[in-house]
Amino acid sequence: MRYANITGWGKCLPPSVLSNEDLATFLDTSDEWISTRTGIKERRISHVSTAELASLAAKRALAAAGLDAAELGMVILATACPDTLIPNAASAVQANIGAVNAAVFDLNAACTGFVYGLSVGTAMIRSGAMKKVLVIGADRIPYFLDYNQRDVSVLFGDGAGAVVLEACDEECGLLAEKLGCDGEARDILTARDSGTVRERFSGADGFFEVNFEGQEIFKRAVRGMGQAITGVLEKLALEPEQIDLLVPHQANIRIIDTLAKRLKAPPEKVIVNIEKYGNTSAATVPIALCEALETGRIKPGDKILMAAFGAGLTWGAVVLKWGSRVTPVSECSEELPPSDRTALEILTPWVNGCRAAAAKKAT
Ligand code: UT7
Repeated sequence: MRYANITGWGKCLPPSVLSNEDLATFLDTSDEWISTRTGIKERRISHVSTAELASLAAKRALAAAGLDAAELGMVILATACPDTLIPNAASAVQANIGAVNAAVFDLNAACTGFVYGLSVGTAMIRSGAMKKVLVIGADRIPYFLDYNQRDVSVLFGDGAGAVVLEACDEECGLLAEKLGCDGEARDILTARDSGTVRERFSGADGFFEVNFEGQEIFKRAVRGMGQAITGVLEKLALEPEQIDLLVPHQANIRIIDTLAKRLKAPPEKVIVNIEKYGNTSAATVPIALCEALETGRIKPGDKILMAAFGAGLTWGAVVLKWGSRVTPVSECSEELPPSDRTALEILTPWVNGCRAAAAKKAT
């Protein structure tokens, strides 16, 4: 039997930090409301493109695996925020990292994208079609937000995380998945006008009207991830207690706590970093995985449960068995180019654009 071991991991967080207090300078909100309702204290805002974030996370993952990019057979970039739709953003990553022998594509399952990508990459290896696959989750949701809406615009941040999968004969890597989508509820989380439905000459450039029904998404997130977790544990005949670590999507601390309670998982079995980065969409799970490794919370042979949900409403859960190595083979010293702007300075033109578009609509 062939398996797909995770041999490398890397993350990339842009340096500009946007605190809750920063948001309160232009939104009717407060650190108290955001912290208690979501668990978020700050998030990052990127001065570079999605592909650049993804490329650096990828280079770090390749270094951790001790692999040359030319050895990759496939690059899967899970993103809902490609820099261009044509061509795909994965081709920019291919060019940036030198994955000259790889097939490359973007995968859009919103916040669930990395979990979907891990499943696809693993299947390619297990089928024998590929030997080495790079799976990246990278998003810049703050670019799409409507900064007139205080409920949704405080939740998201930018970031990227990546893993290298390599064929191996020992039982390790992704053991099973349960993926799904509640398409009938797709309208409760949308950035309207972000595709070809957009009127070509509407003059509303830079403004994506966001529909976001927070409470309904919350309920469906708990239900969808709960269903996915039950399904994947059943497939492997595992009891919740047999899971060593839960790496959940970081959307709201209250959602994470609800899931942890259902799994009877104590805090030491749950990775939480939402306070630092907010919801980085497809990047939350690989970033959290990297931090779990960096802080020594993963041991060889551990059974790891990952669960996510997002626009669509997509949902999914996977169980992994970690391989024998929990330290990187080598490290990549490259950094993002420095930024001379604060997160607020990056955001200000978008905030002003949203205000102007809303004022225009009201007249
Ligand atoms: O990855 C998928 C992404 N989506 C999600 O993760 C969303 C899941 N949903 C949530 O996380 C929560 O529903 C939210 C954090 C978005 C909202 O929390 P909530 O506890 O469901 O609040 P709510 O929408 O019921 O609003 C409660 C109050 C309202 O005021 P009134 O009507 O009670 O006077 C809101 O207007 O809180 C108000 N409010 C805010 N106040 C200060 C909403 N957003 C804010 C804000 N600052 N940013």
